[in-house]
Amino acid sequence: MNTISLKRTVALFTALAGVALLNAPPASAAGPLKDITNRYVGSAVAANHLANEADYRSVLTREFDNVTPENEMKWGVVEANRGQYNWSGADAIVDYAQRNGKSVRGHTLVWHSQLPGWVSNLSAGDLRSVTQRHIATAMGRYQGKIRAWDVVNEMFNDDGTRRASVFQQKLGDGYVADAFRWARAADPSAKLYINDYNTEGLNAKSDALYNLVRTLKQQGVPIDGVGFQAHLATRYGFPGGYQANLARFAALGVDVAITEADVRIPMPADTTKLNTQATYFKQLWDGCHAVARCVEFTTWGFTDRHSWVPDTFPGEGAACLFDTNLRPKPAYTRINP
Ligand code: G3I
Repeated sequence: MNTISLKRTVALFTALAGVALLNAPPASAAGPLKDITNRYVGSAVAANHLANEADYRSVLTREFDNVTPENEMKWGVVEANRGQYNWSGADAIVDYAQRNGKSVRGHTLVWHSQLPGWVSNLSAGDLRSVTQRHIATAMGRYQGKIRAWDVVNEMFNDDGTRRASVFQQKLGDGYVADAFRWARAADPSAKLYINDYNTEGLNAKSDALYNLVRTLKQQGVPIDGVGFQAHLATRYGFPGGYQANLARFAALGVDVAITEADVRIPMPADTTKLNTQATYFKQLWDGCHAVARCVEFTTWGFTDRHSWVPDTFPGEGAACLFDTNLRPKPAYTRINP
């Protein structure tokens, strides 16, 4: 069963079972986002907000049918000290998803950031074995409960060269293929993705990613999809060639997905800026829907109440579909009038 028909089947069973928790009033007469598309439509979520904010949980449950743990599955969180695991946040999100009929995107296994310090100091041999074990442990714990995993995250620099991560430096180019092979063995039911940012348009970085995915496919490496994060900023313009770029990857025989969309604007927000932001979200949404193998549209958080943007880009913000009070913004209404 392909991804889109699987989504339809899950939605049907969820409705029949009457388990949908639709507490909050709808944001659109057309229905929630998840019901106006046959793509998975998701958001990054944080376990503590899910546990402590009823309105956050309610809007998430109403609007989305995919969740991506924003930080809870990262290596630095689950194994900050070697051999001492903390799965509490990840377990809570997977449990929420199971109870509410949501799919989960696992995020992320091999990434240079949020790595525990002890991983960076290993010999090449030890790094290789603990990376395989990390993949096997995380994927094995949630086997069958995670639709798709970001196996390798952000491995390229913007100029298309490989990032000099500890994995690249100690294990060499082959670490990418190895990671996908280990991941397939750990959970054969999960779709395996490579994921990156600034690859939405046609540019040096997306060319490098395209060439890598083509080579991996030719070599029979088990890669199923390419994630485009889509952290956009209105001051940089909309990525040129976005739809053509998604289409060229799909033509390689992989699924594509928008995995972390947000569109930051200079603060303070005003009507003009919010309308510009709306056109960006709409183009992202439409481009995904124009490509048959674009199977998912996930945003990096859904409310301006909680977003990584202001912490990282002082003076910019308001990057999400809902405002701090969980009211739909023009970007939401443009997608779902
Ligand atoms: O949980 C601790 C808290 O105990 C402590 O008091 C506080 C002090 O700084 O830090 C908290 O951890 C922070 C964590 O977010 C949870 O809020 C980390 O410092 C902070 O670095 C971390 O930032 C996350 C970032 O990834 C790390 O690289 C962001 O929330 C998260 O949105 C962001 O997500 C990434 C994707 O994984 C990959 N793509 C880009 C995207 C945006 O940067």
